[in-house]
Amino acid sequence: MTEGAPGYEWWQWGIVYEVYPRSFMDSNGDGVGDLPGITKKLDYLQWLGVNAIWISPIYPSPMADFGYDVSDYTSIHPLFGTMGDLDRLVAEAHRRGMRVVLDYVPNHTSDRHPWFEESCSSRENAKRDWYIWRFPRPGGAPPNNWLSHFGGSAWEWDERTGQYYYHAFLKEQPDLNWRNPRVQAAMMDVLRFWLERGVDGFRVDVIWELVKDHRFRDNPTNPGYEAGRTRPYLQLLPMNSTDQPEVHEIVRAMRGVLDEYGERVLIGELYLPIDRVVKYYGEKGPECHLPYNFLLITLPWEARRIAAAIGKYEGALPEGGWPNWVMGNHDRPRIATRAGPRQAGVAAMLLLTLRGTPTVYYGDEMGMEDVPMPPEMAQDPVEKTIGPGFGRDPARTPMQWDGGPNAGFTTGKPWLPLSRDYARVNVAAQSEDPRSLLNLYRRLIALRQSEPALMVGSYTALPAEGDVIAYLREHEGRRFLVVLNLGPEAAMLNTAENGRVAVCTDVAREGEAVAGEVALRGNEGMVVRLE
Ligand code: GLC
Repeated sequence: MTEGAPGYEWWQWGIVYEVYPRSFMDSNGDGVGDLPGITKKLDYLQWLGVNAIWISPIYPSPMADFGYDVSDYTSIHPLFGTMGDLDRLVAEAHRRGMRVVLDYVPNHTSDRHPWFEESCSSRENAKRDWYIWRFPRPGGAPPNNWLSHFGGSAWEWDERTGQYYYHAFLKEQPDLNWRNPRVQAAMMDVLRFWLERGVDGFRVDVIWELVKDHRFRDNPTNPGYEAGRTRPYLQLLPMNSTDQPEVHEIVRAMRGVLDEYGERVLIGELYLPIDRVVKYYGEKGPECHLPYNFLLITLPWEARRIAAAIGKYEGALPEGGWPNWVMGNHDRPRIATRAGPRQAGVAAMLLLTLRGTPTVYYGDEMGMEDVPMPPEMAQDPVEKTIGPGFGRDPARTPMQWDGGPNAGFTTGKPWLPLSRDYARVNVAAQSEDPRSLLNLYRRLIALRQSEPALMVGSYTALPAEGDVIAYLREHEGRRFLVVLNLGPEAAMLNTAENGRVAVCTDVAREGEAVAGEVALRGNEGMVVRLE
């Protein structure tokens, strides 16, 4: 079991692994993954070496947005199991020294949440002000021009009470009114409920959206918008609908609740420019431990752009702000598809050797790719609301455990199709193969977890050109050189250093001596232990 780095917290030296619960492991043959399934696979996660799992929402939900539309914040959806199953999962994870982080979805509820049903019932209802209701503009138009992330106006007309309600996502996901102290109190109680049950923290869904402009001013148009190429949401700059100064007070309050319990983590989902992301560490008091940094998810896979972004991020971090890196999640195309399968090992090495807490997306450790989704099998609502090709199903397909029927994920009919390559790309096959991506992940994780220089050491960028990224990691005199080739051609890095290859994307090169220069083949990366 990992000891961690003395003087650092688990969320600093540890590695987070995102489990999309519908697709991880199905224990009861209904084709959808569940909590007992995750528990069954904890030994695998321990073998891999990760320290914490973040589980996407498991609460009762009509599943309009696959669990991100919560109808009860303090229960478990029967599809995923029972509260007893969750308790067992937490206990079994803790027994293995692993932490469990839940998804917390405070920006909006399901339209079937009893709070919204009450709020809808009349303009005088005590819960009316728990959501964001506005009168139409003269002539009946929506109150302003704000757009839903998932297409169209963010305002839905309610005939019965003669007002519009605001939904940043689907109309089945009405936004809570976080300016209402009662909403704040009720939602802080939700945090306490799970903390009391022993969970180790939360990943907070769309944390930057909780508070909207109090005057509901229109958003300005986005001069950079390219129609047809990007989501229609990007037609406007969401200046007034998101990232308002008052949100920080709320995040501080959430952090305050976690701090009552100790050793817990608050992770914020943040799709914002880096200078805005880092504000969520907290300026007037602590906010997120890990405001998620999505540079590696959002940038094109180009060495110079990525190297510059790493530098910019390192430079933007506030005093005491701990960095983090995310390579994939359930909303974005998988890395092996974005960067190409030959770059998957280089990507793994980058993620696991940068300074800061890495988050690994389930299946990326064996190079799972986006699975093309025939229209009749598409499940994600976005495929319909925004249009074909925008759906997130391709990155959410079942985990590929073995070469047997349905890749060992289920004995029933999987809720999304499996990748056609699962006979080759699966945990059982790759765990036997020393040259596999899965074994590269394992070696990288094992090295990182045994070397404070890689867990918590300093980061120094080295000059490099073309497709090469190079940097040093150092702690108390132990030093590692990381050299990555993000292109297909051979490349060279001159260095005054000597050492030995500790981990290479090609296992056959491990142990090679390095003196004065590092010669990389295309798509190759290495971590060199320096003398
Ligand atoms: C977040 C989630 C995404 C969800 C959205 C609305 O971005 O990651 O899956 O659809 O919020 O809750």
